[in-house]
Amino acid sequence: MHIYEKRRDLVSSVATLLQAQKTVGFVPTMGALHKGHMALVERALKENDIVIVSVFVNPTQFNNSEDLVNYPRTLTSDVQLLSELSTNIMVFAPTPQEVYGEQMISTNYDFEGLENEMEGKYRPGHFDGVGTVLKRLFNIVSPTKAYFGEKDFQQLQIVKKLVEIEKMSVQIIGCPIFREESGLALSSRNKRLNKKQLQASPLIYKTLKQVKADFGTKSVLEMNEWVSEQFKNDDILELEYFEIAKISDLKSIKEKQKDTKYRAFIAVFAGKIRLIDNIALN
Ligand code: PAF
Repeated sequence: MHIYEKRRDLVSSVATLLQAQKTVGFVPTMGALHKGHMALVERALKENDIVIVSVFVNPTQFNNSEDLVNYPRTLTSDVQLLSELSTNIMVFAPTPQEVYGEQMISTNYDFEGLENEMEGKYRPGHFDGVGTVLKRLFNIVSPTKAYFGEKDFQQLQIVKKLVEIEKMSVQIIGCPIFREESGLALSSRNKRLNKKQLQASPLIYKTLKQVKADFGTKSVLEMNEWVSEQFKNDDILELEYFEIAKISDLKSIKEKQKDTKYRAFIAVFAGKIRLIDNIALN
Protein backbone atom coordinates (compact mmCIF):
# COMPACT_ATOMS: atom_id res chain seq x y z
CA MET A 1 0.00 0.00 0.00
CA HIS A 2 1.29 3.42 -0.89
CA ILE A 3 1.43 5.96 1.96
CA TYR A 4 1.76 9.55 0.81
CA GLU A 5 3.12 12.20 3.13
CA LYS A 6 3.70 14.93 0.55
CA ARG A 7 0.78 16.62 -1.12
CA ARG A 8 2.62 17.09 -4.41
CA ASP A 9 3.25 13.31 -4.69
CA LEU A 10 -0.41 12.52 -4.09
CA VAL A 11 -1.59 15.27 -6.46
CA SER A 12 0.56 13.84 -9.24
CA SER A 13 -0.63 10.22 -8.66
CA VAL A 14 -4.27 11.36 -8.66
CA ALA A 15 -3.72 13.34 -11.88
CA THR A 16 -2.53 10.14 -13.58
CA LEU A 17 -5.59 8.25 -12.30
CA LEU A 18 -8.00 10.93 -13.46
CA GLN A 19 -6.34 11.08 -16.88
CA ALA A 20 -6.97 7.34 -17.15
CA GLN A 21 -10.70 8.08 -16.44
CA LYS A 22 -10.55 6.35 -13.01
CA THR A 23 -12.97 7.38 -10.28
CA VAL A 24 -11.52 8.38 -6.91
CA GLY A 25 -13.40 7.72 -3.66
CA PHE A 26 -12.25 9.67 -0.61
CA VAL A 27 -12.64 8.84 3.08
CA PRO A 28 -11.25 11.67 5.22
CA THR A 29 -10.40 10.50 8.76
CA MET A 30 -8.41 11.54 11.79
CA GLY A 31 -7.13 7.97 12.13
CA ALA A 32 -7.61 5.49 14.99
CA LEU A 33 -9.69 3.62 12.46
CA HIS A 34 -12.61 1.50 13.64
CA LYS A 35 -15.34 -0.58 11.96
CA GLY A 36 -17.34 2.57 11.20
CA HIS A 37 -14.45 3.97 9.13
CA MET A 38 -13.92 0.59 7.50
CA ALA A 39 -17.59 0.49 6.45
CA LEU A 40 -17.07 3.88 4.73
CA VAL A 41 -13.94 2.57 2.99
CA GLU A 42 -15.76 -0.61 1.87
CA ARG A 43 -18.62 1.43 0.40
CA ALA A 44 -16.09 3.72 -1.33
CA LEU A 45 -14.27 0.67 -2.77
CA LYS A 46 -17.55 -0.64 -4.22
CA GLU A 47 -18.35 2.67 -5.90
CA ASN A 48 -14.93 3.81 -7.14
CA ASP A 49 -11.82 2.49 -8.94
CA ILE A 50 -9.47 3.69 -6.23
CA VAL A 51 -9.95 4.91 -2.64
CA ILE A 52 -7.86 7.48 -0.82
CA VAL A 53 -8.03 7.51 2.98
CA SER A 54 -6.56 10.56 4.69
CA VAL A 55 -5.27 10.18 8.23
CA PHE A 56 -4.81 13.65 9.64
CA VAL A 57 -5.62 14.91 13.14
CA ASN A 58 -6.65 18.41 12.15
CA PRO A 59 -5.52 20.92 14.82
CA THR A 60 -7.84 23.75 13.69
CA GLN A 61 -11.05 21.86 14.50
CA PHE A 62 -10.15 21.24 18.18
CA ASN A 63 -11.46 23.92 20.52
CA ASN A 64 -9.99 22.02 23.46
CA SER A 65 -6.19 21.58 23.44
CA GLU A 66 -6.32 18.64 25.88
CA ASP A 67 -8.65 16.80 23.47
CA LEU A 68 -6.17 17.43 20.62
CA VAL A 69 -3.21 16.13 22.65
CA ASN A 70 -5.12 13.04 23.82
CA TYR A 71 -6.69 12.20 20.45
CA PRO A 72 -5.56 8.61 19.65
CA ARG A 73 -2.87 8.33 16.96
CA THR A 74 -2.39 4.81 15.60
CA LEU A 75 -1.07 5.20 12.03
CA THR A 76 0.78 1.85 11.91
CA SER A 77 -2.29 -0.20 12.83
CA ASP A 78 -4.52 2.01 10.64
CA VAL A 79 -2.33 1.24 7.62
CA GLN A 80 -2.30 -2.45 8.55
CA LEU A 81 -6.12 -2.57 8.66
CA LEU A 82 -6.44 -0.83 5.30
CA SER A 83 -3.83 -3.01 3.61
CA GLU A 84 -5.72 -6.14 4.74
CA LEU A 85 -8.87 -4.79 3.08
CA SER A 86 -7.73 -4.01 -0.47
CA THR A 87 -4.81 -3.13 -2.69
CA ASN A 88 -6.91 -0.33 -4.24
CA ILE A 89 -6.40 1.97 -1.26
CA MET A 90 -3.91 4.81 -0.98
CA VAL A 91 -3.23 6.54 2.35
CA PHE A 92 -2.54 10.25 2.73
CA ALA A 93 -0.88 10.96 6.09
CA PRO A 94 0.47 14.51 5.89
CA THR A 95 2.03 16.79 8.50
CA PRO A 96 0.11 19.97 9.42
CA GLN A 97 2.64 22.02 7.39
CA GLU A 98 1.92 19.90 4.33
CA VAL A 99 -1.81 20.69 4.60
CA TYR A 100 -1.65 24.28 5.84
CA GLY A 101 1.77 25.66 4.91
CA GLU A 102 3.25 27.98 7.55
CA GLN A 103 -0.03 29.58 8.68
CA MET A 104 -2.37 27.17 10.36
CA ILE A 105 -5.49 29.30 10.44
CA SER A 106 -9.08 28.53 9.54
CA THR A 107 -11.45 30.41 7.27
CA ASN A 108 -14.50 32.02 8.87
CA TYR A 109 -17.39 30.23 7.20
CA ASP A 110 -21.04 31.12 6.96
CA PHE A 111 -22.82 27.81 6.50
CA GLU A 112 -26.21 29.58 6.55
CA GLY A 113 -26.55 29.08 10.30
CA LEU A 114 -25.89 25.31 10.37
CA GLU A 115 -22.60 26.07 12.13
CA ASN A 116 -24.31 27.86 15.04
CA GLU A 117 -26.46 24.96 16.24
CA MET A 118 -25.58 22.16 18.68
CA GLU A 119 -21.87 21.25 18.19
CA GLY A 120 -21.31 24.80 16.94
CA LYS A 121 -22.58 26.23 20.27
CA TYR A 122 -20.45 23.95 22.40
CA ARG A 123 -17.33 23.80 20.22
CA PRO A 124 -16.72 27.35 18.97
CA GLY A 125 -14.70 27.46 15.74
CA HIS A 126 -14.99 23.69 15.24
CA PHE A 127 -16.82 23.83 11.91
CA ASP A 128 -14.53 26.57 10.56
CA GLY A 129 -11.68 24.11 11.16
CA VAL A 130 -13.59 21.23 9.54
CA GLY A 131 -14.56 23.35 6.51
CA THR A 132 -11.01 24.67 6.10
CA VAL A 133 -9.31 21.30 6.24
CA LEU A 134 -11.85 19.61 3.97
CA LYS A 135 -11.57 22.32 1.33
CA ARG A 136 -7.79 21.81 1.39
CA LEU A 137 -8.06 18.00 1.33
CA PHE A 138 -10.64 18.03 -1.49
CA ASN A 139 -8.28 20.25 -3.52
CA ILE A 140 -5.41 17.82 -2.98
CA VAL A 141 -7.36 14.58 -3.52
CA SER A 142 -9.78 15.74 -6.28
CA PRO A 143 -12.28 13.03 -5.29
CA THR A 144 -15.24 11.93 -7.39
CA LYS A 145 -17.16 11.01 -4.22
CA ALA A 146 -16.39 11.57 -0.52
CA TYR A 147 -17.87 9.49 2.32
CA PHE A 148 -18.96 10.67 5.80
CA GLY A 149 -20.70 8.88 8.67
CA GLU A 150 -24.07 10.06 9.95
CA LYS A 151 -22.79 9.92 13.54
CA ASP A 152 -21.54 13.42 12.82
CA PHE A 153 -24.79 14.36 11.12
CA GLN A 154 -24.27 18.10 11.60
CA GLN A 155 -20.82 17.79 10.03
CA LEU A 156 -22.34 15.88 7.09
CA GLN A 157 -24.88 18.68 6.44
CA ILE A 158 -22.12 21.28 6.74
CA VAL A 159 -19.86 19.44 4.30
CA LYS A 160 -22.72 19.40 1.76
CA LYS A 161 -23.08 23.16 2.27
CA LEU A 162 -19.29 23.67 1.98
CA VAL A 163 -19.24 21.93 -1.40
CA GLU A 164 -22.16 24.12 -2.54
CA ILE A 165 -20.51 27.36 -1.30
CA GLU A 166 -17.09 26.50 -2.75
CA LYS A 167 -18.66 25.16 -5.97
CA MET A 168 -16.70 21.91 -5.74
CA SER A 169 -17.64 18.97 -7.94
CA VAL A 170 -17.25 16.19 -5.35
CA GLN A 171 -20.40 14.21 -4.48
CA ILE A 172 -20.94 13.86 -0.71
CA ILE A 173 -22.27 10.51 0.47
CA GLY A 174 -23.71 10.04 3.98
CA CYS A 175 -23.44 6.54 5.47
CA PRO A 176 -25.37 4.99 8.41
CA ILE A 177 -24.02 5.02 11.96
CA PHE A 178 -22.03 1.92 12.90
CA ARG A 179 -22.68 0.68 16.47
CA GLU A 180 -21.17 -1.69 19.03
CA GLU A 181 -23.50 -4.53 20.03
CA SER A 182 -24.22 -2.45 23.14
CA GLY A 183 -25.59 0.33 20.92
CA LEU A 184 -22.65 2.69 21.50
CA ALA A 185 -21.94 4.57 18.25
CA LEU A 186 -18.41 3.82 17.06
CA SER A 187 -15.96 6.67 17.53
CA SER A 188 -12.18 6.91 17.78
CA ARG A 189 -12.70 8.53 21.19
CA ASN A 190 -14.27 5.28 22.50
CA LYS A 191 -10.71 3.92 22.79
CA ARG A 192 -10.24 6.28 25.76
CA LEU A 193 -13.27 5.03 27.73
CA ASN A 194 -12.50 3.04 30.87
CA LYS A 195 -14.47 -0.09 31.85
CA LYS A 196 -17.06 1.76 33.96
CA GLN A 197 -17.62 4.39 31.28
CA LEU A 198 -18.03 1.69 28.62
CA GLN A 199 -20.54 -0.12 30.81
CA ALA A 200 -22.53 3.09 31.28
CA SER A 201 -22.40 4.18 27.62
CA PRO A 202 -25.33 2.08 26.21
CA LEU A 203 -27.68 4.52 27.99
CA ILE A 204 -27.04 7.03 25.20
CA TYR A 205 -28.53 4.96 22.38
CA LYS A 206 -31.15 3.41 24.66
CA THR A 207 -32.39 6.93 25.41
CA LEU A 208 -32.43 7.90 21.72
CA LYS A 209 -34.39 4.75 20.82
CA GLN A 210 -36.99 5.51 23.52
CA VAL A 211 -37.34 9.08 22.20
CA LYS A 212 -37.95 7.66 18.73
CA ALA A 213 -40.60 5.31 20.13
CA ASP A 214 -42.30 8.19 22.00
CA PHE A 215 -42.04 10.70 19.17
CA GLY A 216 -45.56 10.10 17.83
CA THR A 217 -47.33 10.42 21.20
CA LYS A 218 -45.30 12.70 23.50
CA SER A 219 -44.62 16.43 23.31
CA VAL A 220 -41.12 17.77 22.68
CA LEU A 221 -41.10 19.27 26.20
CA GLU A 222 -42.01 15.93 27.78
CA MET A 223 -39.27 14.16 25.84
CA ASN A 224 -36.66 16.83 26.71
CA GLU A 225 -37.54 16.55 30.41
CA TRP A 226 -37.50 12.76 30.31
CA VAL A 227 -34.01 12.69 28.73
CA SER A 228 -32.64 15.12 31.36
CA GLU A 229 -33.98 12.83 34.10
CA GLN A 230 -32.27 9.76 32.63
CA PHE A 231 -28.86 11.40 32.90
CA LYS A 232 -29.46 13.15 36.25
CA ASN A 233 -29.69 9.70 37.79
CA ASP A 234 -26.45 8.48 36.19
CA ASP A 235 -23.13 8.71 38.09
CA ILE A 236 -20.88 8.27 35.06
CA LEU A 237 -22.52 10.09 32.14
CA GLU A 238 -23.22 13.82 32.14
CA LEU A 239 -25.62 15.26 29.58
CA GLU A 240 -24.28 18.27 27.67
CA TYR A 241 -27.24 18.72 25.33
CA PHE A 242 -30.24 16.90 23.96
CA GLU A 243 -32.18 18.48 21.11
CA ILE A 244 -34.85 17.49 18.67
CA ALA A 245 -34.10 19.41 15.48
CA LYS A 246 -35.28 19.79 11.92
CA ILE A 247 -33.02 18.04 9.43
CA SER A 248 -33.25 20.95 6.99
CA ASP A 249 -31.70 23.70 9.16
CA LEU A 250 -30.77 21.78 12.36
CA LYS A 251 -32.74 24.26 14.48
CA SER A 252 -34.16 22.71 17.64
CA ILE A 253 -37.93 22.69 17.99
CA LYS A 254 -40.49 23.15 20.74
CA GLU A 255 -43.37 21.70 18.71
CA LYS A 256 -43.60 19.21 15.88
CA GLN A 257 -44.98 20.22 12.51
CA LYS A 258 -46.50 18.16 9.71
CA ASP A 259 -44.38 17.08 6.73
CA THR A 260 -41.10 17.94 8.43
CA LYS A 261 -38.21 15.55 9.02
CA TYR A 262 -36.66 15.49 12.50
CA ARG A 263 -33.69 13.93 14.25
CA ALA A 264 -32.76 13.78 17.93
CA PHE A 265 -29.18 14.80 18.80
CA ILE A 266 -27.27 14.19 22.00
CA ALA A 267 -23.85 15.01 23.47
CA VAL A 268 -22.69 13.40 26.71
CA PHE A 269 -19.51 13.52 28.79
CA ALA A 270 -18.01 10.35 30.26
CA GLY A 271 -15.34 11.97 32.44
CA LYS A 272 -13.41 14.15 29.98
CA ILE A 273 -14.46 12.13 26.94
CA ARG A 274 -17.21 13.65 24.86
CA LEU A 275 -19.58 11.33 23.01
CA ILE A 276 -22.17 12.35 20.44
CA ASP A 277 -24.98 10.41 18.77
CA ASN A 278 -28.22 11.00 16.89
CA ILE A 279 -31.24 9.18 15.50
CA ALA A 280 -33.80 9.79 12.74
CA LEU A 281 -37.24 10.26 14.31
CA ASN A 282 -39.57 10.10 11.30
O1 PAF B 1 -14.99 13.43 11.10
C1 PAF B 1 -13.76 13.55 11.16
O2 PAF B 1 -13.02 12.62 11.49
C2 PAF B 1 -13.12 14.90 10.84
O3 PAF B 1 -13.96 15.93 11.24
C3 PAF B 1 -12.75 15.05 9.36
C4 PAF B 1 -13.97 14.96 8.47
C5 PAF B 1 -11.76 13.94 8.97
C6 PAF B 1 -12.07 16.41 9.12
O4 PAF B 1 -10.89 16.54 9.85
